[in-house]
Amino acid sequence: MSKKRILSGMRPTGKLHLGNYVGALENWIKLQDDYESFHLIADYHVLTTDLNTEEIYKNSIDMLIDWLSAGLDPIKAPMFRQSKIKEHTELFLIFSMLITKARLERNPTLKEQVRDLNIENLVYGHLGYPVLQAVDILLYKGEIVPVGEDQLPHIEITREIARRFNAQYCPDDPIFPEPDGMITEFARLPGLDSKRMSKSLGNTIYLSDEPEVVQQKLRKAVTDPLKIRKNDPGRPEICLVFTYHKKFNPEEVPQIDRDCRSGALGCVECKLKCSKKINWMLKPILEKRKYYENNLSEVEDILHHGEKRARVVAEDTMNQVHQKMKLG
Ligand code: TRP
Repeated sequence: MSKKRILSGMRPTGKLHLGNYVGALENWIKLQDDYESFHLIADYHVLTTDLNTEEIYKNSIDMLIDWLSAGLDPIKAPMFRQSKIKEHTELFLIFSMLITKARLERNPTLKEQVRDLNIENLVYGHLGYPVLQAVDILLYKGEIVPVGEDQLPHIEITREIARRFNAQYCPDDPIFPEPDGMITEFARLPGLDSKRMSKSLGNTIYLSDEPEVVQQKLRKAVTDPLKIRKNDPGRPEICLVFTYHKKFNPEEVPQIDRDCRSGALGCVECKLKCSKKINWMLKPILEKRKYYENNLSEVEDILHHGEKRARVVAEDTMNQVHQKMKLG
């Protein structure tokens, strides 16, 4: 039986943080053996919120280095930039005819962005964000899309577009799958202030943070506000550091739970334990990152090779689209 296909991607906004890792990247790495994976650097998508393209290339390479350092294997899974595969723009035009403005305006992820970023005049391309994402997925006939929770509305829109295309142009021989999203247990890892982990909120731990930096950042993390002194009893269920223990230190969770509640364990020590675990996990990633930073031409080769492989698939799909649409 042939493997199912995964397509997933991220916008290149710079170095990745633990939220990106836990919410998606870690899952991509786990899945790369059992699926045929494609991973896209969504550089055009960045334009929806930032027209300054000065840093896009650098950020793309930085993100690629994070992907590789964390363990994505370029032989198993091609990695490529959206802007280097022309078929994205072509299919975007066609797909934009298959969905209404009203439907796109109902997108909760867009509403959240408009609110968070205080956007007063939404540009046309930003409204079409999920249409471009549908193209990303369907050009490669992605069946499974492992992403963070906030992306599920976009996958729903992708399903609707796939259905609409198939019904209109090839009801008897559908060419597009209706992909399923796949989210992880920690799809939304909170940041150091308990809010959503996000670069713009300054509450992140980066995959590229050195051990001392992680330790310092954790020292400032919020805990139970009623646990002021070491021996005060704490409430793990409302403590951010406890959430991190659940993710990065699962073996010790029952013990920490008990000792926090009884007051035997103070926050300072608890945070230290936690940063050690995070650093232990990050150590091999940091080492590989140093290697790639010193071998940038290898990184570029990986990208160009990935783009070649992606292009073959995208061209094939686009030919099928033209054929089904009888564009001759
Ligand atoms: N919108 C995604 C994000 O912000 C990035 C993305 C672009 C993507 N194209 C995709 C994710 C295709 C999955 C599939 O995280």
